[in-house]
Amino acid sequence: MIAVSKVAKRFGGLAVLGDVSFSVAAGEIVGLIGPNGAGKSTLFNILCGIIRADDGEITFEGRRIERLQPHRICQLGLTKTSQIVRVFAGMSVLENALVGALLHARTVSQARVEGRAALQRVGLAGSEERLASDLALVDRMRLELARALCTRPRLLLIDELMAGLNASEVGTMLDLLRALRDEGITLIVIEHNMGALMRLCDRVLALDAGSIVAEGTPEAVSRDPRVVESYLGEKFARALNS
Ligand SMILES: Nc1ncnc2c1ncn2[C@@H]1O[C@H](COP(=O)(O)OP(=O)(O)OP(=O)(O)O)[C@@H](O)[C@H]1O
Ligand SMILES: [Mg+2]
Repeated sequence: MIAVSKVAKRFGGLAVLGDVSFSVAAGEIVGLIGPNGAGKSTLFNILCGIIRADDGEITFEGRRIERLQPHRICQLGLTKTSQIVRVFAGMSVLENALVGALLHARTVSQARVEGRAALQRVGLAGSEERLASDLALVDRMRLELARALCTRPRLLLIDELMAGLNASEVGTMLDLLRALRDEGITLIVIEHNMGALMRLCDRVLALDAGSIVAEGTPEAVSRDPRVVESYLGEKFARALNS
């Protein structure tokens, strides 16, 4: 589905990513973990074309995309949700969602139909006419997902969609993400909630200081000495695997 080869990025004097390579197959759910500042969100921004890498190649479904504009990459089927969820505050929930559908839809009314379907999909049916700014945090996150789904992604990058959610909300979100995969959407998920990630992912990549330091099953990566040292801590890793 996607192959990333030797991607590197500096911000001024700061090397944020160095030589990052990995690939993800269609139908996988891959977790991306690492400490704050490891470069996870930057990597997502590069995959979506929001930030241009200094070096490296990105191939999405057989096509080189590292020089394409974000809207072109989105049209090809690669979209992300943002770590910092922003809604258009003066607009309704439905209007917020259908913005994503305008990428493909020929008319606003068709975008509306797609927006409604996406809201239903994420559990926001009935909230279409509410002001987006009135939504609770969990519902803003659902809306962020609905807007992304409206662009008809084949590969969806999810940047911390579970931060701040309680256990039952996390459970609902996990069910939803699994259902999306079953419908044919490949997922790469950044998440600090390791318990949730371990239940969700087929495979995990661990990034530390801009390099991939471990890759494998959630169990193997959460036991990897470099991941324990740089990110999880001994106690937490033991608790996760007990
Ligand atoms: N536009 C930018 N200009 C300069 N430095 C940046 C920019 N964006 C990110 N950085 C820096 O790049 C590094 C990686 O940031 P990034 O947001 O990718 O980390 P992250 O792994 O997503 O962290 P977190 O888990 O806290 O979200 C950090 O040191 C950050 O301060
Ligand atoms: Mg981030």
